This record gives sequence, C-alpha cells and structure tokens, in this order.
Amino acid sequence: MHGVGPVATAPVLVARGLTKRFPGVLALDDVGFAIRPGEIVALLGQNGAGKSTLIQIFAGAHPAGGYDGDLTLGGEPFRPSSVAEAEAAGVALVPQEVNVVPDLTIAENIALNDEPTRWGFIDIGERIRRAKAALADFGLDLDPALPMSALDLATQQLVVIARALAKRARLLILDEPTAALTENESRRLFERMRALKAKGVAIIFVSHRLGEVFAICDRIVVMRDGRIRGHHGIADISRRGVVDEMVGATGADEDTAPAGDSATGAVALELRNFNVFDSGGRRRVESLDLILRRGEVVGLFGLLGAGCIEAALAAYGAWPGRHEGAVLIDGKAATIAAPSEAVPLGLGLMAQDRRDCLIGDQSIADNIGIASLASISRLGILDIGAGRRRARDIAASIAIKTASIDAEVRTLSGGNQQKVQIARWLAASTRILIMIDPTRGVDVGARREIKRLWSELAARGHAILIASTDAEELVDACDRVVVMGHGRRVGELAARDLTEQKLLRMATDG
Ligand SMILES: Nc1ncnc2c1ncn2[C@@H]1O[C@H](COP(=O)(O)OP(=O)(O)OP(=O)(O)O)[C@@H](O)[C@H]1O
Ligand SMILES: [Mg+2]
Repeated sequence: MHGVGPVATAPVLVARGLTKRFPGVLALDDVGFAIRPGEIVALLGQNGAGKSTLIQIFAGAHPAGGYDGDLTLGGEPFRPSSVAEAEAAGVALVPQEVNVVPDLTIAENIALNDEPTRWGFIDIGERIRRAKAALADFGLDLDPALPMSALDLATQQLVVIARALAKRARLLILDEPTAALTENESRRLFERMRALKAKGVAIIFVSHRLGEVFAICDRIVVMRDGRIRGHHGIADISRRGVVDEMVGATGADEDTAPAGDSATGAVALELRNFNVFDSGGRRRVESLDLILRRGEVVGLFGLLGAGCIEAALAAYGAWPGRHEGAVLIDGKAATIAAPSEAVPLGLGLMAQDRRDCLIGDQSIADNIGIASLASISRLGILDIGAGRRRARDIAASIAIKTASIDAEVRTLSGGNQQKVQIARWLAASTRILIMIDPTRGVDVGARREIKRLWSELAARGHAILIASTDAEELVDACDRVVVMGHGRRVGELAARDLTEQKLLRMATDG
C-alpha cells in the first residue's frame, strides 16, 4: 500500500488542451484529463466520441508531435513517441482490437518490448517463467510455448490483458476489455483491477456496459464529439444521467419496440439433430434441434464454449470442423459446407471478429456493397450510382458516424465498423441473418438502434438468429431464446420471461 500523504494524491497523469485531427474529423477538441494513483476512472461515450484516440495518446500509440496539447506523467513532461516508450515509463494499454503477433508464441507476445536478457542475450528460460507467472496470475492455464495463432479471439484477449496486468504499470488503460469476455473472466479481471487499485495503480476503464462501470469505478468521465462533457463521482450520477450526457439529449426515452410473443411465419431455418465437431474430433454441439421462423428474432445463448457460436458458424458453413444432421432452408434440405453455398440460399452471417469480414482500406460504401455484388452482376448490370445511394441510405438509417461513405473503414471507431457489417447484409437483402455477438463493443444508443432495426427486419419477414455470449444483448430484442450449456440445449425462454438473470442461471445450471 502506498502512503496517503500529499505525494500519493498528486495526479499520475495530467493532460491539457489535447486536440487531435484526422482527415475530415476533429477527434479530440481541447481535452483535459487527470487521474490519481489508486483511482479507477471510467471513460464513457458513444461510438466515435474520441475515447480510444485519447487513451492511445496516453499510451504512445499516437506519437507525440501528431497532436496539440501536452501531458505530464508523475509531474514530468511526457511525450511518448511509441507504445514501447510509454510502457517503459509505466503506462500499459490493452487496446480495443486484439493486437497480437500471431506467428509468435504466447511467451514471446507477453515479452514484446521488454525481453529479459542475460549477458546481452535474450533469456528464454526467464521469458517462459515470466509468461507462466503472468498467465497464472490471471488464472489462465495455457502453455506459453503455443503460438498465439492457436488461440481463439477471446483467449488472445485474455493473454493481452494478462500481459498488461503483469506490467506493474502505474497507469493501466483498458479499452473495452470485457467486450469478448465471459462473466467469469470479467469477474476475474475486476478482482485484479481492485488489487492493483489497492497498490496505488491508476486505471482508465473504457466500457459500454454501465453495470460494470458502476460496480468498479470511482469516477466517470463522459465524452461526446471529441470533448469532455462531464466529470462525476460514481455516487453523484445515475445510469440515466450518464446515458443522457453521452447522447447529448434529455428525455428521449424511446425503448426498443417490444418483440412480439408468438411467431406464425413459415419456418426459414431448421436444424435437426445437429452435431458439430472440432478439428480434433471433439463434439462441441450435441443433437441440437432448432427452428427459426420468418418474422422471428431468436437468440441462441450460452457461455463461451457452450456450443451456440459453434452451431451458428456450422449452420453457415463457416465452422472449421465437421458437422452432422439436417439443415433445412425454407423446408428444403440443404448441404452447406462453405459460406459460398450459404449466401445464394439467402443466408448471411455477421461474425465475431469484424476484422475478418471488413476490408479496412476500402471505403464504407464498398464494404457495404460487397455481399450484394454477386446478385447485381448475375443480372449483368452494375448500377454503381444506385449502389452508392443504397449504401448511403443504409449507413444513415443505422447512424454510421462518418464524414463520408467514401472514408476507409479502418478510420471508423470500433462500434461504427460493427454497423458497417450489419449494413452490408441489409444491402444484400439477406432473408436469414445469423449474427454472432452482434452488438459487441456497440454503445448503448446504437445498441438500442440496432435492436430496433432487428424488429423492423423481422416485421418485414426476415428471420434473425443471434448467437450470443452476452445476455444483455438478447434481452429486449428476442422473441425467444434457446439456451445452451456444454453443447446441449438446456432450455428456452419466451420474450415475456426474458431477463439477464434467468438466462445466466439457465446457462450455468445446464
Ligand atoms: N486512424 C484514424 N484515421 C481517421 N479517423 C480516425 C482514426 N481513428 C479514429 N478516427 C476518427 O476519430 C473519431 C474518434 O474515434 P475513436 O476511435 O476515438 O472513438 P471511440 O470513442 O473510441 O469509439 P468506439 O466506442 O466506437 O470505440 C471517429 O470519428 C473516428 O472515425
Ligand atoms: Mg474506441
């Protein structure tokens, strides 16, 4: 424990007058910020508000010189020109998008920028020992000699977090760390955050989940359109107050249209006695029966590894392993071994990792148009003007925040990239949409928009299946939710019975 004298209460980091421009966007506009040792400060704001930009400056990811304003760390001027330099000075960042070197081992990734050396050579034994300790400290049982590419996205994120926690930084910055984590993993992270706080580490926590913000943070800082809009002690503001400040409006309390309780549409997608195996031959989904009707939004809920993601990917032909059992589309048996066979049947998938699906250096308009190109060129006509108008209308209808639909997708904030994926399938007139954790990293305002969009699509006769590990995204959105545990169906909840608690209880008891 640090002392509580005047030295300990001086801020660790102070930022003054930070202004950062990107072509066409003023991402930060005269931002001031300070954080003290042992404080956990939430940084909140809608997609594109400037949160990531601000903390990337703190962490050296936007090098000094590329912005106006100044920073001090421990009272000294701080002008990091790289992430490595910021890390060496005691600032550790877990970025929003998992950022690993897939070809290196777990141990090598953990040691990046900070290799242990002996007699001037890299000390491999020490590297493995440190990596083991970092993983064990965060409760991870992984072989540090495995290549990073052997891990799934969520596990990679856990390794990145373990690495940052092990840095013994004085300022730890977490940019939406829980977006890909299970409840248990989040709980473990919060325990570690509290332990670090007790040791005097300052923590900046970016999250779109207000529940966890109110559970763990001391202060809330709200950003909107590149500016700080409010500072609050956690006891001095309500969730409602935070959301209003993020959105920049008061009173607008339009809730998602409640989903209807019964669906009478024809069966669009049916899985019968569906079994999914991983490449090692292990059964991940066992004898699943599932019916999805037109006009329905159906959730498929389970904790990570419960089989819902696996089932959704396999139904679309995107699961790397084998599957058995029947897939029926509009009542007709279909063989779907690859996504290219799913798309012509009117099936679309929105995957977990947006970087798998979006082409970063192409424009928003092109990314939206990709899935619809096939149908357009089959007719032999490529109406570029109409395609652009359609892309613009769809982008506007789901409020993609951008100066222009010609901007490159990689310049969008994380949540806005997610919206581009949704827009793509809307443009492609897909009838059966399978989504995997679709509102991961999407802010509360946009989440509400997107849920409304689902009910609109359902009302127009689309069928939507949402495979999710996040109970919150299914509540208020689904007509019913099928719950899975250990690869099997363990229950089902109708819209009127749907609460986060019930879903979690069912998924963990099963
Ligand atoms: N490398 C870049 N090039 C161009 N524009 C960028 C770049 N990075 C961010 N921007 C723009 O700056 C603004 C702020 O983006 P930022 O990523 O900081 O938002 P955010 O608050 O983190 O949002 P989210 O919750 O979606 O992650 C957005 O308008 C974004 O499009
Ligand atoms: Mg961000």
